[in-house]
This record gives sequence, structure tokens and C-alpha cells, in this order.
Amino acid sequence: MGQLFVCWTGLGHGDCSAMQQLAAQGLRILESNPFTVDWMRRKVSVIGAGKVGSTIAHLLALKGMANVVLVNRTVGIAQGIALDIAEALPVEMSDVEVVGTGDYAAIAGSDIVVVTAGAQRKEGMSRDDLLKVNADIISSIAAEIKKHAPESKVIVITNPLDAMVYLVKKVTGFDRDRVIGMAGILDSSRFSSFIAEEVGVSVKDIHPLVLGSHGDTMVPLTRFTTISGKPVSDIVDKAKLDKIIERTRNGGAEIIKLEGSSAFYAPASSVVRMIDSILNDRKDVVPCSVYVDGEYGLEGVFIGLPVALGSKGVDRIVDLKLDESEMKMLSDSAAKIKSLMQQVDAMQLK
Ligand code: LAC
Repeated sequence: MGQLFVCWTGLGHGDCSAMQQLAAQGLRILESNPFTVDWMRRKVSVIGAGKVGSTIAHLLALKGMANVVLVNRTVGIAQGIALDIAEALPVEMSDVEVVGTGDYAAIAGSDIVVVTAGAQRKEGMSRDDLLKVNADIISSIAAEIKKHAPESKVIVITNPLDAMVYLVKKVTGFDRDRVIGMAGILDSSRFSSFIAEEVGVSVKDIHPLVLGSHGDTMVPLTRFTTISGKPVSDIVDKAKLDKIIERTRNGGAEIIKLEGSSAFYAPASSVVRMIDSILNDRKDVVPCSVYVDGEYGLEGVFIGLPVALGSKGVDRIVDLKLDESEMKMLSDSAAKIKSLMQQVDAMQLK
């Protein structure tokens, strides 16, 4: 038999078995796309079946990106949401598997585990106010991940984000490439949507960049946020831009005030973007909370920086030449995060 050059973007079970039969008959199959290298379906586990977790599961299933395991302490909620999503998939023509469970053993073999569990902010609370209540929850979840999915990459969403992702790294002992916090994409996306509204351009023409902590000291970078290549600081006047920056910093609180509970569509989309880049080894450069070890002159802290995300998780941290005032904002943000990390270190966790 000859050779078959395969180039496709969606890989269903039917495609796999047809390919396996052809291969068994001696056909040599050459892949064209990293996505096709592994014929097994990818697996993503989502811990916490609240609004963020269930929306992530829904998006992953709709896009056919991976089999999904949804884990929740109240098992019926995980099972019910998973079943509801699974029942939508014939209509959506997606054939991934979605299961809900309370048993962490089900996360074994996950490529990625996403941690969404934890208490949410109420109106008037800062993200940092959640430190104590969420540290216990996250510490026990991290121990389960270490036990059942020791090879996985972990994406953390629980607040206060940078301190919680530190805690996951500390408990799992995973190397820094495999423990990443989601925040910068969300903050950048909010920044972008407000700029688009102000300037009257498509969000597709804006490249936003927000670094630093996912908290009051986040660092929207107006020199590196561009509209068709031009810095937004050259397009929008300072007073208006300052208002947009303030609104971005308060983006999560604005939703809580309106809706009574935390945002979930934008956070879930941001996580799915990270998952897509990791599963497909795209090396999208996006801001994420990563452990720095000398980059940007910072040491021993999780903080939002531009990262190329690929199959090993953090492929690399991308260096930008920040000016003095940008660097000062970033180091102030790092100092704030470090104080939360020290509080985590001082806790007696389960
Ligand atoms: C927010 C939460 C995810 O900013 O922190 O909406």
C-alpha cells in the first residue's frame, strides 16, 4: 500500500477507527498537524461545577476539543450538568464524552486539570478577601490532582488567583511549566472590549495587554496595547484611558454588582483559549499567571506575564522591554502578591 497524508482539523472516533484499519492493512500514514499526532481523544478535567466550571465544560464539548470530566463535591450537580451537556451534543454534532462525578479517580490521565472550585466574592469584597476560605479548598484539591493526575498541566481560576496558583504549585510540587493561572486573558479581553466601545473599532483590530496581579494592582499596558499596530495611548486621550483602566481593574466587581454573582462567560472563554493553545501546541502568546525565576527582574512570585502556551504548558515567558513606570507598576503588583503568598505559607492547611 502507499502513503496517506492526513490533514484535518476535527478528529472523531469514526476517523480514528478508519485510519487504524487502513494502518493495519499496511498504509503508511503521515500526519500534517500536531493535533493528529495522538489519535486518542484529549482529556480535560474541570474541578468545580459552578457557573465557571460548567461553562468551560460546555464550551469544550461544543467545540469538540476534549473529553470532559466535571468533578463536584455535590455529585448530583456534576452528573446533572454533564448529562445536560451530553444531551446537547447530538444537536451540536460533537461526539466527545462528558461525565460528571464526585470521585477524583476519574481525573486520571487528564492532559489538563482546571481548578474552578472555591467561594466567590460577594458585592463589596475584594478578591483577596477570599484567601482564607479558599486556601483550604484549593490545598485539598491540589493534593487530589497530585495523586490522580500527576502528569497533567493545571490551570487555576480560583481567587485570589495568584496566591491560589502558588498554593497549587506548592502542594503538587509540579514544575512551573505545568501550573498556570488564568487571569491576564480575561483582564485583557475586558480592556479590549472597553477600548473597542470607546474608539469604535472591531475588537478584532485590538491587541490588548494586561499584566500583573488579577487584583487591584493589575497592570494594563497602554504602550503595548495596540489598535492595528498603533499604541492605544496615542489614540485615546489620557483621561478617557484612565477611566477605561479603572473599569478594567473593577471588571469583575462590575459584573457582581449588576448580577449578584461572579462573571463566568468571559472567564470560561479565557480558560478555553489557554486549553486550545496547550492541547494544540499553538504557542499563543497570552498573559497568564506564571512563576517567575528572574524574568522581568522578579523572583519567586506568581504574576501575570506574556507567556507562549504550548504542549508542555508554559513554553516560555516572553520578554518585553518595560519602561521605568511600567516596571514600577509590575514590581508593586509583585510585592502585593508576595504578601498574599506569605500569608498562604503561614497557614495551617489541611
Ligand atoms: C473576575 C473573576 C474571575 O474577574 O476574578 O470576574
